[in-house]
Amino acid sequence: MLAIESSCDDTSAAVIRNDTLLSNVVAGQKVHEIYGGVVPELASRAHQQNIIPVVEVALKRAGVMKNELAAVAFTRGPGLLGSLLVGTSFAKGFALALGIPLIEVNHLQAHVLALFIREPEMAEAGQLLKTESYPSESLPPPPVFRAPSFPFLCLLVSGGNSQIILVKDHLHMEVIGQTIDDAAGEAFDKCAKVMGLPYPGGPYIDRLAREGDPLRFSFAKPRIQGLDYSFSGLKTSFLYFLRDQLKEDPDFIEKNKADLAASLQQTIIDILLQKLVKAAKKTRIGEIAIAGGVSANSGLREAIQREALERNWKVYIPKLEYTMDNAAMIGIAGYYKYLKGDFAGQNVVPYSRTHL
Ligand code: KG4
Repeated sequence: MLAIESSCDDTSAAVIRNDTLLSNVVAGQKVHEIYGGVVPELASRAHQQNIIPVVEVALKRAGVMKNELAAVAFTRGPGLLGSLLVGTSFAKGFALALGIPLIEVNHLQAHVLALFIREPEMAEAGQLLKTESYPSESLPPPPVFRAPSFPFLCLLVSGGNSQIILVKDHLHMEVIGQTIDDAAGEAFDKCAKVMGLPYPGGPYIDRLAREGDPLRFSFAKPRIQGLDYSFSGLKTSFLYFLRDQLKEDPDFIEKNKADLAASLQQTIIDILLQKLVKAAKKTRIGEIAIAGGVSANSGLREAIQREALERNWKVYIPKLEYTMDNAAMIGIAGYYKYLKGDFAGQNVVPYSRTHL
């Protein structure tokens, strides 16, 4: 199956055989950097330039010919409409030309299903590794395929979403908590922008935070009921704090970069984990996963593992390359829909907003 992702500013194509990934190619778009955010019109144009070469490289790396493909999966939404249109039109044309089924994928569902991507070299969990095949220390054993069992909770944190999802089945998911304003990724990016860091700021904050003191500064945490999140108050608190400090010392940010990043990151992680712990208690589920761009954050990855030890959770964290937007996750979601014969017609249109 060929899979296409074009919801925002990454053009990606992947080839999978059943649930095993054969190739995953991602072309980023540098054109937005100078604007400090994604410019939708420029994103659509870049997708148009990238999509054919990206698909060609994905097929070549997979060693698969076009006429061997059984289906084409694509991101239908949510995302930027102009960007989605490029991937949707391309997938439609491809499916029509080859006479194969078209499968539409919900981008959010795909982020969660990234946890199920199998790589060719992975061994089955529980499969006994024979000593003859992997003698002594000279050859490390292959990585073991490890995926959550149902039901599990997934903290989906990206640039546009912060949700706690109760995953009942590959295609059956229920949002039990979500942000009422900004997403966690937005909090990272907007605060990073205030600090003068490039876009997207999340990875820069992550890097700086490793050198800083997470307890040096404290910022506002929301007090909302239930399992919902809010990040807009934190953003304002960060902004006002810096504004006041800069009045006293114009070099405040430069002098305290690492501590600011570490304290901000710690606050975001505390907010995310507090509700996740609450959700785990409420549902009595101990299979916990994270997904989405912010799940690449090293502090969050460490914090959830510490929490797992304390609470006896089994934790599942996607490989770094499957946390950001990528077509591999669209492929795996497409695979589960293919098994159900859930195909789209040629009249399918993308949607900018949608739910799980
Ligand atoms: O999932 P994604 O690639 O796009 C959406 O579908 O939104 O997520 C992008 C978000 C951005 O806000 C980016 O700053 C954030 O993920 N991000 C990170 C890290 N890597 C990416 N945030 C914190 N730490 C990181 N290491």
